[in-house]
Amino acid sequence: MKRTTTYGNKNNSKKKYIWFGASVVVILVAAIAVFMYLKQNNLNNQTGVPTPTEVVEEEKVEPNDTKPIEENNPPSNTPADETDKTDINDQEQQQEEQPTSNNGYIEGQPLPTEPTVIEGVLLANKKYPLPSTFAPGESKEARKAFEQMAADARIAGFELVAFSTYRSFEYQDTLYNNYVSRDGQENADRYSARPGYSEHQTGLAFDIGEKGKEDLWLTEEFGETEAGKWLVVNANKYGFILRYPQGKEAITGYMYESWHFRYLGVDLATKVKQANVTLEEYLGIQ
Ligand code: DAL
Ligand code: ZN
Repeated sequence: MKRTTTYGNKNNSKKKYIWFGASVVVILVAAIAVFMYLKQNNLNNQTGVPTPTEVVEEEKVEPNDTKPIEENNPPSNTPADETDKTDINDQEQQQEEQPTSNNGYIEGQPLPTEPTVIEGVLLANKKYPLPSTFAPGESKEARKAFEQMAADARIAGFELVAFSTYRSFEYQDTLYNNYVSRDGQENADRYSARPGYSEHQTGLAFDIGEKGKEDLWLTEEFGETEAGKWLVVNANKYGFILRYPQGKEAITGYMYESWHFRYLGVDLATKVKQANVTLEEYLGIQ
Protein backbone atom coordinates (compact mmCIF):
# COMPACT_ATOMS: atom_id res chain seq x y z
CA MET A 1 0.00 0.00 0.00
CA LYS A 2 2.70 2.35 1.09
CA ARG A 3 4.78 1.66 -2.02
CA THR A 4 1.74 2.06 -4.21
CA THR A 5 0.99 5.34 -2.49
CA THR A 6 4.62 6.45 -2.87
CA TYR A 7 4.53 5.51 -6.51
CA GLY A 8 1.21 7.32 -6.88
CA ASN A 9 2.71 10.46 -5.29
CA LYS A 10 5.68 10.42 -7.70
CA ASN A 11 3.28 10.05 -10.57
CA ASN A 12 1.26 13.02 -9.31
CA SER A 13 4.39 15.12 -8.89
CA LYS A 14 5.44 14.38 -12.46
CA LYS A 15 1.98 15.40 -13.73
CA LYS A 16 2.19 18.57 -11.67
CA TYR A 17 5.56 19.43 -13.30
CA ILE A 18 4.09 18.84 -16.76
CA TRP A 19 1.07 21.07 -15.97
CA PHE A 20 3.31 23.72 -14.47
CA GLY A 21 5.58 23.68 -17.53
CA ALA A 22 2.61 23.86 -19.93
CA SER A 23 1.10 26.76 -17.96
CA VAL A 24 4.38 28.67 -18.09
CA VAL A 25 4.55 28.18 -21.87
CA VAL A 26 0.91 29.33 -22.32
CA ILE A 27 1.46 32.41 -20.12
CA LEU A 28 4.64 33.29 -22.00
CA VAL A 29 2.93 32.98 -25.39
CA ALA A 30 0.00 35.10 -24.17
CA ALA A 31 2.37 37.74 -22.75
CA ILE A 32 4.32 37.92 -26.04
CA ALA A 33 1.04 38.25 -27.98
CA VAL A 34 -0.17 41.09 -25.72
CA PHE A 35 3.22 42.81 -25.95
CA MET A 36 3.23 42.63 -29.76
CA TYR A 37 -0.36 43.95 -29.92
CA LEU A 38 0.40 46.91 -27.63
CA LYS A 39 3.59 47.73 -29.54
CA GLN A 40 1.76 47.75 -32.87
CA ASN A 41 -1.07 49.87 -31.49
CA ASN A 42 1.35 52.36 -30.03
CA LEU A 43 3.20 52.71 -33.33
CA ASN A 44 -0.05 53.32 -35.16
CA ASN A 45 -0.90 56.16 -32.80
CA GLN A 46 2.41 57.91 -33.36
CA THR A 47 1.74 59.98 -36.48
CA GLY A 48 4.75 62.20 -35.86
CA VAL A 49 2.77 65.22 -37.02
CA PRO A 50 3.48 68.25 -34.87
CA THR A 51 0.50 69.93 -33.29
CA PRO A 52 -0.08 73.42 -34.64
CA THR A 53 1.34 74.97 -31.48
CA GLU A 54 4.54 73.02 -32.00
CA VAL A 55 4.85 74.33 -35.51
CA VAL A 56 6.88 77.49 -35.60
CA GLU A 57 6.04 78.76 -39.04
CA GLU A 58 7.68 81.18 -41.35
CA GLU A 59 10.35 83.49 -40.09
CA LYS A 60 8.91 86.65 -38.66
CA VAL A 61 11.04 88.90 -40.79
CA GLU A 62 10.50 90.45 -44.13
CA PRO A 63 12.82 89.05 -46.76
CA ASN A 64 14.82 91.91 -48.12
CA ASP A 65 16.05 90.15 -51.18
CA THR A 66 13.75 91.52 -53.84
CA LYS A 67 12.62 95.05 -54.44
CA PRO A 68 8.85 95.37 -54.89
CA ILE A 69 8.04 95.96 -58.52
CA GLU A 70 4.82 96.67 -60.36
CA GLU A 71 2.44 93.75 -60.11
CA ASN A 72 2.21 91.70 -63.30
CA ASN A 73 -1.05 89.91 -62.61
CA PRO A 74 -3.36 91.93 -60.40
CA PRO A 75 -6.46 90.01 -59.34
CA SER A 76 -9.59 90.97 -61.22
CA ASN A 77 -13.04 89.62 -61.65
CA THR A 78 -12.84 89.62 -65.41
CA PRO A 79 -13.87 86.16 -66.58
CA ALA A 80 -11.11 84.26 -68.33
CA ASP A 81 -11.35 84.48 -72.09
CA GLU A 82 -11.82 81.47 -74.34
CA THR A 83 -8.08 80.97 -74.81
CA ASP A 84 -7.60 80.89 -71.06
CA LYS A 85 -10.41 78.38 -70.66
CA THR A 86 -8.94 76.07 -73.27
CA ASP A 87 -5.55 76.20 -71.59
CA ILE A 88 -7.05 75.54 -68.18
CA ASN A 89 -9.12 72.64 -69.46
CA ASP A 90 -6.02 71.12 -71.03
CA GLN A 91 -4.10 71.57 -67.80
CA GLU A 92 -6.87 70.08 -65.70
CA GLN A 93 -7.16 67.10 -68.02
CA GLN A 94 -3.42 66.50 -67.85
CA GLN A 95 -3.46 66.81 -64.09
CA GLU A 96 -6.34 64.39 -63.69
CA GLU A 97 -4.36 61.78 -65.54
CA GLN A 98 -1.39 62.12 -63.23
CA PRO A 99 -1.24 60.40 -59.85
CA THR A 100 -1.21 62.75 -56.88
CA SER A 101 0.80 62.06 -53.79
CA ASN A 102 -0.64 62.16 -50.27
CA ASN A 103 0.46 65.70 -49.58
CA GLY A 104 -1.44 67.11 -52.57
CA TYR A 105 1.47 67.69 -54.94
CA ILE A 106 1.45 66.16 -58.39
CA GLU A 107 4.40 63.80 -58.52
CA GLY A 108 7.06 64.80 -60.99
CA GLN A 109 5.26 67.99 -62.07
CA PRO A 110 7.79 70.49 -63.43
CA LEU A 111 7.38 74.17 -62.63
CA PRO A 112 5.59 75.97 -65.48
CA THR A 113 7.02 78.71 -67.61
CA GLU A 114 3.90 80.86 -67.12
CA PRO A 115 1.76 81.42 -64.02
CA THR A 116 -1.81 80.10 -64.02
CA VAL A 117 -4.64 82.62 -63.94
CA ILE A 118 -8.17 81.25 -63.56
CA GLU A 119 -11.10 83.65 -63.78
CA GLY A 120 -8.68 86.50 -63.27
CA VAL A 121 -7.17 84.94 -60.14
CA LEU A 122 -3.44 84.36 -60.05
CA LEU A 123 -2.98 80.92 -58.50
CA ALA A 124 -0.27 79.41 -56.37
CA ASN A 125 -1.16 76.14 -54.71
CA LYS A 126 0.00 72.53 -54.73
CA LYS A 127 -1.61 71.89 -58.12
CA TYR A 128 -0.78 75.19 -59.79
CA PRO A 129 2.79 76.30 -59.07
CA LEU A 130 4.56 79.40 -60.33
CA PRO A 131 7.62 79.67 -62.53
CA SER A 132 10.80 79.94 -60.46
CA THR A 133 11.50 83.23 -62.24
CA PHE A 134 8.13 84.76 -61.29
CA ALA A 135 9.09 87.67 -59.03
CA PRO A 136 6.49 90.44 -58.97
CA GLY A 137 7.39 91.75 -55.51
CA GLU A 138 4.75 92.81 -53.02
CA SER A 139 1.50 93.88 -54.69
CA LYS A 140 1.03 97.63 -54.33
CA GLU A 141 -2.73 97.19 -54.55
CA ALA A 142 -2.71 94.62 -51.75
CA ARG A 143 -0.40 96.77 -49.60
CA LYS A 144 -2.71 99.76 -49.99
CA ALA A 145 -5.69 97.60 -49.02
CA PHE A 146 -3.81 96.27 -46.02
CA GLU A 147 -2.89 99.77 -44.85
CA GLN A 148 -6.55 100.82 -45.05
CA MET A 149 -7.57 97.69 -43.15
CA ALA A 150 -4.89 98.33 -40.51
CA ALA A 151 -6.08 101.95 -40.12
CA ASP A 152 -9.66 100.79 -39.51
CA ALA A 153 -8.47 98.01 -37.21
CA ARG A 154 -6.59 100.65 -35.19
CA ILE A 155 -9.87 102.47 -34.64
CA ALA A 156 -11.38 99.18 -33.53
CA GLY A 157 -8.49 98.81 -31.08
CA PHE A 158 -6.01 96.52 -32.83
CA GLU A 159 -2.59 97.30 -34.26
CA LEU A 160 -2.22 94.92 -37.19
CA VAL A 161 1.21 94.02 -38.57
CA ALA A 162 1.93 92.31 -41.88
CA PHE A 163 5.03 90.40 -40.80
CA SER A 164 5.58 88.41 -44.00
CA THR A 165 4.29 89.31 -47.45
CA TYR A 166 6.16 88.82 -50.72
CA ARG A 167 8.71 86.01 -50.68
CA SER A 168 10.99 85.22 -53.58
CA PHE A 169 11.36 81.68 -54.95
CA GLU A 170 14.86 81.52 -53.45
CA TYR A 171 13.73 82.68 -50.03
CA GLN A 172 10.90 80.13 -49.99
CA ASP A 173 13.42 77.46 -50.97
CA THR A 174 15.54 78.29 -47.92
CA LEU A 175 12.52 78.44 -45.60
CA TYR A 176 11.04 75.15 -46.82
CA ASN A 177 14.34 73.29 -46.61
CA ASN A 178 14.88 74.51 -43.06
CA TYR A 179 11.45 73.15 -42.10
CA VAL A 180 12.16 69.84 -43.80
CA SER A 181 15.43 69.55 -41.87
CA ARG A 182 13.61 70.31 -38.65
CA ASP A 183 10.35 68.38 -39.00
CA GLY A 184 10.79 66.05 -41.98
CA GLN A 185 9.21 66.53 -45.40
CA GLU A 186 5.83 64.97 -44.62
CA ASN A 187 5.23 67.39 -41.75
CA ALA A 188 6.74 70.43 -43.48
CA ASP A 189 4.46 69.90 -46.47
CA ARG A 190 1.47 70.47 -44.22
CA TYR A 191 2.40 74.03 -43.29
CA SER A 192 5.08 75.27 -45.67
CA ALA A 193 4.91 75.48 -49.45
CA ARG A 194 7.69 74.08 -51.58
CA PRO A 195 9.54 76.72 -53.63
CA GLY A 196 7.38 77.71 -56.59
CA TYR A 197 4.17 76.71 -54.78
CA SER A 198 3.87 79.49 -52.22
CA GLU A 199 1.17 82.11 -52.47
CA HIS A 200 3.71 84.50 -50.94
CA GLN A 201 5.58 84.40 -54.25
CA THR A 202 2.56 86.07 -55.88
CA GLY A 203 3.02 89.16 -53.69
CA LEU A 204 -0.66 88.88 -52.75
CA ALA A 205 -0.38 86.88 -49.50
CA PHE A 206 -0.05 88.74 -46.20
CA ASP A 207 0.79 87.04 -42.91
CA ILE A 208 -0.91 89.20 -40.32
CA GLY A 209 -0.47 89.46 -36.56
CA GLU A 210 -0.99 91.98 -33.81
CA LYS A 211 1.65 94.38 -32.56
CA GLY A 212 2.50 93.61 -28.95
CA LYS A 213 1.32 90.02 -29.30
CA GLU A 214 4.27 88.71 -31.27
CA ASP A 215 4.16 85.47 -29.31
CA LEU A 216 0.86 84.71 -31.07
CA TRP A 217 2.15 85.35 -34.58
CA LEU A 218 1.97 82.18 -36.67
CA THR A 219 -0.15 80.39 -34.10
CA GLU A 220 -3.71 79.11 -34.23
CA GLU A 221 -4.35 81.09 -31.06
CA PHE A 222 -4.17 84.34 -33.02
CA GLY A 223 -7.48 83.31 -34.59
CA GLU A 224 -9.05 83.28 -31.14
CA THR A 225 -7.94 86.80 -30.26
CA GLU A 226 -10.22 89.78 -30.84
CA ALA A 227 -7.92 90.97 -33.65
CA GLY A 228 -7.94 87.53 -35.32
CA LYS A 229 -11.75 87.38 -35.11
CA TRP A 230 -12.06 90.96 -36.38
CA LEU A 231 -10.01 89.97 -39.44
CA VAL A 232 -12.19 86.94 -40.18
CA VAL A 233 -15.28 89.16 -40.12
CA ASN A 234 -13.86 92.22 -41.88
CA ALA A 235 -10.93 91.24 -44.14
CA ASN A 236 -13.15 90.77 -47.21
CA LYS A 237 -14.20 94.44 -47.02
CA TYR A 238 -10.59 95.26 -47.90
CA GLY A 239 -10.20 92.45 -50.44
CA PHE A 240 -8.63 89.73 -48.29
CA ILE A 241 -9.74 86.19 -47.44
CA LEU A 242 -8.53 83.81 -44.77
CA ARG A 243 -6.82 81.43 -47.16
CA TYR A 244 -6.31 78.25 -45.12
CA PRO A 245 -9.33 77.84 -42.84
CA GLN A 246 -9.82 75.18 -40.23
CA GLY A 247 -10.88 71.74 -41.46
CA LYS A 248 -9.99 72.38 -45.10
CA GLU A 249 -6.54 70.83 -45.29
CA ALA A 250 -7.71 68.17 -47.74
CA ILE A 251 -8.74 70.94 -50.14
CA THR A 252 -6.18 73.70 -49.60
CA GLY A 253 -3.29 71.34 -48.86
CA TYR A 254 -2.39 73.19 -45.67
CA MET A 255 -3.20 73.15 -42.00
CA TYR A 256 -5.28 75.97 -40.52
CA GLU A 257 -3.36 79.26 -40.70
CA SER A 258 -5.15 81.95 -38.72
CA TRP A 259 -2.62 84.53 -39.96
CA HIS A 260 -2.41 83.94 -43.74
CA PHE A 261 -4.64 86.25 -45.79
CA ARG A 262 -4.81 86.40 -49.56
CA TYR A 263 -5.71 89.52 -51.49
CA LEU A 264 -8.39 88.97 -54.13
CA GLY A 265 -9.99 92.38 -54.45
CA VAL A 266 -13.14 93.36 -52.56
CA ASP A 267 -15.71 91.84 -54.96
CA LEU A 268 -14.20 88.39 -55.19
CA ALA A 269 -13.10 88.23 -51.55
CA THR A 270 -16.68 89.06 -50.53
CA LYS A 271 -18.13 86.42 -52.85
CA VAL A 272 -15.73 83.76 -51.56
CA LYS A 273 -16.48 84.70 -47.97
CA GLN A 274 -20.24 84.72 -48.52
CA ALA A 275 -20.05 81.31 -50.21
CA ASN A 276 -18.18 80.10 -47.11
CA VAL A 277 -15.78 78.07 -49.21
CA THR A 278 -12.08 77.99 -49.96
CA LEU A 279 -10.65 79.65 -53.05
CA GLU A 280 -10.14 76.21 -54.62
CA GLU A 281 -13.80 75.32 -54.08
CA TYR A 282 -14.99 78.69 -55.35
CA LEU A 283 -13.03 78.27 -58.57
CA GLY A 284 -13.92 74.58 -58.83
CA ILE A 285 -10.28 73.45 -58.88
CA GLN A 286 -10.11 71.42 -55.68
N1 DAL B 1 2.59 78.73 -45.16
C1 DAL B 1 2.17 78.81 -46.51
C2 DAL B 1 1.40 77.60 -46.92
C3 DAL B 1 3.33 79.02 -47.43
O1 DAL B 1 4.42 78.56 -47.10
O2 DAL B 1 3.13 79.60 -48.47
ZN1 ZN C 1 1.59 82.88 -45.13
